[in-house]
Amino acid sequence: HASAKRGRRIDSLGGKMALDRRRWFGHATGDAPYEAIASVASNEFNRITPENSMKWETIEPQQGVFDFTLGDALIAWAEANDQAVRGHTLVWHSQLPGWINNPTVPWTPATLKPVLENHVRTVVRHYKGKIDQWDVVNEMFNDDGTFRQTVFYNNFGTDYVCWALKWAHEEDADALLFVNDYNFEYRGAKVDAAATFFKSLIAQGCPIGAVGAQAHLIVGQVDEAGITAGLSHFADLGLLLYLTEVDIRYEIGRGNDIANYTPSQVGQQAKDYYSLTKACLNVENCIGMTLWQYTDKYSWIPGVWAGTGAALPWDVRLNKKPAYTAIYEAIENQ
Ligand code: G3I
Repeated sequence: HASAKRGRRIDSLGGKMALDRRRWFGHATGDAPYEAIASVASNEFNRITPENSMKWETIEPQQGVFDFTLGDALIAWAEANDQAVRGHTLVWHSQLPGWINNPTVPWTPATLKPVLENHVRTVVRHYKGKIDQWDVVNEMFNDDGTFRQTVFYNNFGTDYVCWALKWAHEEDADALLFVNDYNFEYRGAKVDAAATFFKSLIAQGCPIGAVGAQAHLIVGQVDEAGITAGLSHFADLGLLLYLTEVDIRYEIGRGNDIANYTPSQVGQQAKDYYSLTKACLNVENCIGMTLWQYTDKYSWIPGVWAGTGAALPWDVRLNKKPAYTAIYEAIENQ
C-alpha cells in the first residue's frame, strides 16, 4: 500500500537545509507575528506547522462559518519563505468549538456525520495544493491502546477515521494523510494496538499514508534503539513516518529561564536529540521531523508541564544550544 506520495520533492526547495537530502526539517509556529521567528525559521527549515491556527475552534468557530484568516496568513508566510506546510489538525477531541463539544447538544450519528464531513471537506478543499501533509485524525488512542472516548468515537465507533481519510483524499488526492498521536515512539500497548488498527484500515482501502509520532519526550529517556523499533513497527505496514511535534523537556525550576539551564542537562539533551534524529534516519520510511516551536521562548511546555521547559534546540534568545549541533552530527554519522 505504501503511499509513494511525499508531497513536494525536498530537493526542489532550493538550498534549504533538510535533515538530510531526503528528509524534511520543520518547525511549528503559533499566531505570534511571524517576524519574531522569521530570521532563524526561514533559513533553517523547509516545512512549517500551524501550532493552533488550523484547529477546529479557530477555523470553524460557528457551525458552517469558516474563518481561514490565520491559516491563510501562515500559508502566505510559508510560500514567501519556500516552506512546505503540515496541516494540523482536522479531527481531534481537543480545541473543538463550544457548539460541537457540548454535552448538552444531543448529537446523533445522523446529525454529526454531515458536520464532520463538511468540516473535513471544506478545510482540505480550501488548502488543496497548498498543504501536502494533513494530520487527519489526532490522538484517537488512549495510552493503554483502547480507543479514546470522544464525541466522534461515541457516535461512530471507529468508522469516522476511514470516512475522514476518504473525504480528505477525495478533496486533495496529492496530500499525504496522517493519523498522529503522542507516545507513538516506542513499542507498547498503544503502538501495537494502533498498528493493528492501521492494518485493518489499509485492508479496507482507507487512504492512510503515514503515521505521525509527536515525540514530546523527556531528557534522559530517549532511546535510539527503542524508537527505531517503534517507528519500524508502523513502517512494516508500508506507512511513512514523521516525527511531528518534537521537544525534549527537563526539570528546570522556573520555566524556560536561560539562567536556569543546567550544563549536565543541556549536554544530555543534546545526546537525546542525537538519538531521536538517528532513530528517524534509521528508518527508511521516516521522512522528517518538526520541532514544536524551535525556540524555548514560545514553547507550550512550561505552561502545561509546570517546572519543566528548555525543551528546544534554540534558547529564549534564539541562540542555538548543543542540541542543534547534535541533530546535524546524527546526520553526518548515519
Ligand atoms: O488564544 C487564546 C488567547 O486569546 C487567550 O488569551 C489565552 C489565555 O489562556 O489562551 C489562548 O489560547 C491558548 C492557545 O494555545 C493559543 O495560544 C490556549 O489557552 C492553550 O490551551 C493553547 O495551547 C495549545 C494546546 O495544543 C492546546 O491543546 C498549545 O499552544 C499547542 O502547542 C498544543 O499543541 C498540541 C498539539 O496540537 C497536539 N499534540 C499535543 C500538543 C501539545 O499539547
